Amino acid sequence: MMINQPKIIESLRKLFVQTELNEIKEGIRELKNNLKGFKTDRLGLLNIVSNGQTININSKYLEKELDQIVNTQTLERTKYYINRLLKGLTERKTNKINDINLYRWKEYTDIITDSLWILDKRDTSGAHLGWYWGNFIPQIPHQLMMRYTKKGEWVIDTFVGSGTTLIECRRLGRNGIGIELNAEVARKAKELIRKEKNTHDVITEVNTADSRYVNLKEILDRQRVRKVQLVIMHPPYHDIIRFSRNPNDLSNAKTTKEFIRMFNDVVDNTIPFLDKGRYLGVVVGDKYSRGEWIPLGFYIMSEVLRRGFLLKSIIVKNFEETRGKRNQKELWEYRALVGGFYIFKHEYILLFKKEK
Ligand SMILES: C[S@@+](CC[C@H](N)C(=O)[O-])C[C@H]1O[C@@H](n2cnc3c(N)ncnc32)[C@H](O)[C@@H]1O
Repeated sequence: MMINQPKIIESLRKLFVQTELNEIKEGIRELKNNLKGFKTDRLGLLNIVSNGQTININSKYLEKELDQIVNTQTLERTKYYINRLLKGLTERKTNKINDINLYRWKEYTDIITDSLWILDKRDTSGAHLGWYWGNFIPQIPHQLMMRYTKKGEWVIDTFVGSGTTLIECRRLGRNGIGIELNAEVARKAKELIRKEKNTHDVITEVNTADSRYVNLKEILDRQRVRKVQLVIMHPPYHDIIRFSRNPNDLSNAKTTKEFIRMFNDVVDNTIPFLDKGRYLGVVVGDKYSRGEWIPLGFYIMSEVLRRGFLLKSIIVKNFEETRGKRNQKELWEYRALVGGFYIFKHEYILLFKKEK
């Protein structure tokens, strides 16, 4: 909701200097009542004047903050909460790696801070069509960019596929470089990305190349950029889905060892361009082959850690059932019982911080 900033600040400051707890609480209740609508708004909090200072605030967040003030037991606590709200309305406190206003952190109800992500619905709005078999849901790059980048910063996605990351870059005002081996997939991704409005006027560029050897310096030089602030990698989960017949495609690696080696080459080719103190997010799942669980996620994790990164989180995300699997649900359940294993229902989002 939009609020008249000077008016709400004035009202809160008046309450802050009062010395009677009950009077302050009464004042806050009155403020809440004023915010209900124009009819009850005698303080003019909802009175938006042209060229006047306004504040855009989540109404639920504001209501919660006001309730917290009303529910306190001591004058000291009440004033502490009023002061915190005043700060939230007048100042910004952000850290070096994102734009989250820490004075108003409770307002960011869509940002996940738990390590278990149960995401039921794919975001299919705008250009996010979800046509590509083996894509990830847009909420993944969305969450990572909100937490680990500021507006106007640069993101590289080394396995850009259908362009999910770059579509999200356009929405959030981040610049994005995507690399994709398959020319046809890259062409489709470009088409789709172009369909997403570029309201923040950012650059979203897809390059057809092998991420192990692509000349990232040249690509970044062209944009007059030396380093990027986030790297997202969503490799094939080895051969679970074969993306092409190209031997340079990680999904065509002959063995697990070769797959890991190819993945390492992508990491080594990319991380020199990631700023120190910034994040690499790897989205990966394990596989099951010849009666054995192959922990691709763990192998990849230890390889990245060997490169001096700091592990910041292992997020476990629920895995959407693929159409094929859904049709064969009962067969898989039977196989699991007979074979003594569990059916995959999760994948990982591994988060690393570049230390050196
Ligand atoms: C799991 S998909 C990525 C999907 C993407 N996150 C999306 O939402 O569409 C992996 C992609 O990596 C690509 N790929 C495989 N090997 C590659 C390589 N050596 N260099 C660049 N891309 C590669 C595949 O063609 C495939 O599109």
